[in-house]
Amino acid sequence: MDWGMRNRMARMFKPRSGRTVMLAVDHGYFMGPTRRLENVGTTLTPVLPYADAIALTRGILRSSVPPTVEVPVVLRVSGGVTVLHEDLSDEAITTPMEEALRLNVCAVAMSVFVGAPHEHETLTALGNLVSEGESAGMPVMAITAVGKELEKRDARYLSLACRVAAELGAHLVKTYYCEGFSKVVEGCPVPLVVAGGPRLDSDRAALQLCFDAIQEGAAGIDMGRNIWQSDHPVAMIRALRAIVHERATVREALDLLETTKAAPAPSPAATA
Ligand code: 5RP
Repeated sequence: MDWGMRNRMARMFKPRSGRTVMLAVDHGYFMGPTRRLENVGTTLTPVLPYADAIALTRGILRSSVPPTVEVPVVLRVSGGVTVLHEDLSDEAITTPMEEALRLNVCAVAMSVFVGAPHEHETLTALGNLVSEGESAGMPVMAITAVGKELEKRDARYLSLACRVAAELGAHLVKTYYCEGFSKVVEGCPVPLVVAGGPRLDSDRAALQLCFDAIQEGAAGIDMGRNIWQSDHPVAMIRALRAIVHERATVREALDLLETTKAAPAPSPAATA
């Protein structure tokens, strides 16, 4: 791996723990103004200092994130359909590599739809994006099993989807937690980060999901709704950080969540 590629990876995955807390705010690219993400800038501002990377589209980056931001950016470069379309897998690359370089991002991300009508197109697009990424020194994150594919979220399906993405050259893969997740990790030779999916019943459930994923070998999280749809997004992301970077237990993370809810946030530099 060339220096530029390694440097970009190291900016996302903190060298001390080797893991990452990515904050996903890219949902609008196919869902429109999702609850509590109606104004991305407003949602992002308080939690941004606690994220190791943010995942979004070029439109939101330009409109809602100041260019002085120090947090690395993972740029979603696929899209083209919305929740109103009958086939969510009908995506294509919507943002070229040249623009990702111009925007000075740390990685590009695209969805692959294994087992869906547009499996072939999205997988070949991943192969092509990886070739461009290798030339540019830009890591490519493959995002597996979104939309209707979530119905197939078991270890057998996710192992297949993640392994195929890695075989096509993805430098990291975003997937979902499932029972038997360690099998998914075992079969995937590149770092796996775990999405949260729709808001769970409680903050505790989201912390447990994160804990289980890290215990079973995830290299971090790329979570959205379970952070910014929580009533306490800052406390939530700080509790998740403790699990990901400090290997806190769920109990310890819950204690931190409660303490942080009650107290004003200290300077991010003083946190993990
Ligand atoms: C949308 C995405 C999201 O970034 C991903 O699902 C993570 O967000 P959440 O934790 O809310 O599921 O890729 O297509």
